[in-house]
Amino acid sequence: MNQKETELIIPYHVGIIMDGNGRWAKKKGLPRYIGHTYGAQTFRNITRYISKQGVKVLTLYAFSTENWKRPPEEVNAIMKIFRQYLTDALTDFRDDDIKVRFIGDRSAFGKEMVKLIDETEDVAKDRQGMLLNIAMNYGSRDEILRAVKLICQNVKDGKINIEEITDKEIQSGLYTANIPDPDLIIRTGGEHRLSNFLLYQSAYAEFYSSETLWPDFKPEDFDKAILEFNRRNRRFGGV
Ligand code: FPP
Repeated sequence: MNQKETELIIPYHVGIIMDGNGRWAKKKGLPRYIGHTYGAQTFRNITRYISKQGVKVLTLYAFSTENWKRPPEEVNAIMKIFRQYLTDALTDFRDDDIKVRFIGDRSAFGKEMVKLIDETEDVAKDRQGMLLNIAMNYGSRDEILRAVKLICQNVKDGKINIEEITDKEIQSGLYTANIPDPDLIIRTGGEHRLSNFLLYQSAYAEFYSSETLWPDFKPEDFDKAILEFNRRNRRFGGV
């Protein structure tokens, strides 16, 4: 970004719905999984770029609770790409001091994947740079249900009375507990929906849809989203 642009307000927390891998591959006459391979490369490059822009939290939607409905060959290919890229990306993320956390239900993953997830979080836990949340087997409805059950259990155990339940109790039951809500949600691939991503947290997030398919998403596309974010008038329900 140039001198004038450095005066821009940089959102504290950005969420990205990385969409369009399959269409990108189809346009090139390639199998869908190739789109995910290139998408993983974008994941690596764009994360590094965004961390250098001053964003403090980046949440990337990598795999939803609904994505298991895809053909098994595609799901297997995605899992293989995750394993490969998480291992490779560890070096980059160390160089950029990026802290990594996974949000979502990890009980559905195999032992090897869970181990990799745990290790990735563990090696990065004392870093001071941007926090990268990777949403894997994540679904917002599932997350809210989990928070509700947690509150019910606390009521049942006599730890809290129903009258005392506030927004704070719900927030602290979410995977994103203690993390400020997203300011900006970007979706690539031209669609205009949230697809079960951070539904509770994005109550006042600015939504930006980019026509660019995820494998083609470049720093310039992110810069465009930031410029648009700076044109928005955020009122949070006020006037
Ligand atoms: C969306 O494209 C992508 C996915 C459902 C999952 C794969 C994400 C990656 C490979 C990014 C890398 C992430 C990590 C953690 C390495 P789509 O298949 O829905 O595209 P379409 O809408 O064109 O079909």
